[in-house]
Amino acid sequence: MCSIEDLIASQKPGYSLDQRFYTDSEIYALEVERIIMRNWILVGHRSEWAKPGDFKVYEAAGESAIVVQGDDGAIRGFANVCRHRGSRVCLEKSGNTRKFSCPYHGWVYGLDGKLKAARSMPDDFDFAAHGLKPVSIGLIHGLVFLAFCDHPPSLDGAIRDLAEPMAMFDFENLKVAAYKSYDIPANWKLSIENYQECYHCAAAHPEYARMHTLMLDPLKRPRVQDGMREKMEACGLKEISIDFIDTAARPGEIGYGYSRTAMFDGYLSGSRDGQAVAPLLGDLTGYDGGASDFSFGAFSFLLAYSDHVVCYVFTPVDLNNSRCEIHWLVRSDAVQGKDYDLHELTWLWDITTKADMTIIVNNSKGVHSKYYEPGPFSRMEKAERAYIEWILQQLARQE
Ligand code: FES
Ligand SMILES: [Fe+2]
Repeated sequence: MCSIEDLIASQKPGYSLDQRFYTDSEIYALEVERIIMRNWILVGHRSEWAKPGDFKVYEAAGESAIVVQGDDGAIRGFANVCRHRGSRVCLEKSGNTRKFSCPYHGWVYGLDGKLKAARSMPDDFDFAAHGLKPVSIGLIHGLVFLAFCDHPPSLDGAIRDLAEPMAMFDFENLKVAAYKSYDIPANWKLSIENYQECYHCAAAHPEYARMHTLMLDPLKRPRVQDGMREKMEACGLKEISIDFIDTAARPGEIGYGYSRTAMFDGYLSGSRDGQAVAPLLGDLTGYDGGASDFSFGAFSFLLAYSDHVVCYVFTPVDLNNSRCEIHWLVRSDAVQGKDYDLHELTWLWDITTKADMTIIVNNSKGVHSKYYEPGPFSRMEKAERAYIEWILQQLARQE
């Protein structure tokens, strides 16, 4: 078996990855070190931390972090690892608290991560040196990101360039209307690769494919795109296209992107009947029949319809398991039951994700086979190709 360096160098451009990228625990360990622990991942919307003490716990690749609002209103992140002997400190997924008490021997930490109480320690015990270790937290116009490292990629470019498209949907003033988590028994790359391409959409997603033109070959897309373009301005939308995604990211920065794609005629939103499922976002005045894709780094992908936003977050769990979390966002003043119905709001992406889980697991089975061999991408898999090339670049980085 060749070395990981040689294996990376031998990957054929335009082809899917070698089997070892999905089965080799040494490669997974390298991914954890160079990709998963170094990059930003979306943990929620600012509105979920409404008051001091509001917290959420986020877990990836065996690590766990507490994300909590302090008394000063700032959101901070801490490794969920006790400074006594290492127990998980917070066992709840979310809630509100005044302090975090370790369930093992009762050490108590404040909302600022500082150690407040520890029984029976020597007189010279240094409380200040035993606070919870920080993880990085970053905000992009209302979205809260976390990175399990001290020096993650800069968010400055994303904050600057995405300000205008995010303002169109008033990201700062959204709220989480619904949240679902899907456990996928497959390597994290297979889950994200599936999200990166719509070559599979026509066959796998009849509901999605009847409304979204991304299922079309790109050569056939300009005609439908023109219809949306004509309506955009009157609806309060500007045409913006940004691509600093994956291999196009600037050095030292998070990759990010934005684009808007038309839906088929008659579809105002991603819903069962094509009609709106929530009030228009921000200052939008009408439906242009489009849906916007936002990309934030390696794990977080958002789809903004005119009336709601679907946030897709993929989390590596271990070599053979990943998780897909979806947050459905609506404007903060929308009222459940009156302005939106949870079942209708979540219908499309719940059935689409369940269908994807089946595809991804089938993919995983084949990729583990002795008959598997990397195959060529179609021209509808350009984004997946860029994603894979970015992964190989990260793994090959000499540091
Ligand atoms: S491990 Fe947390 S108090 Fe002992
Ligand atoms: Fe899919």
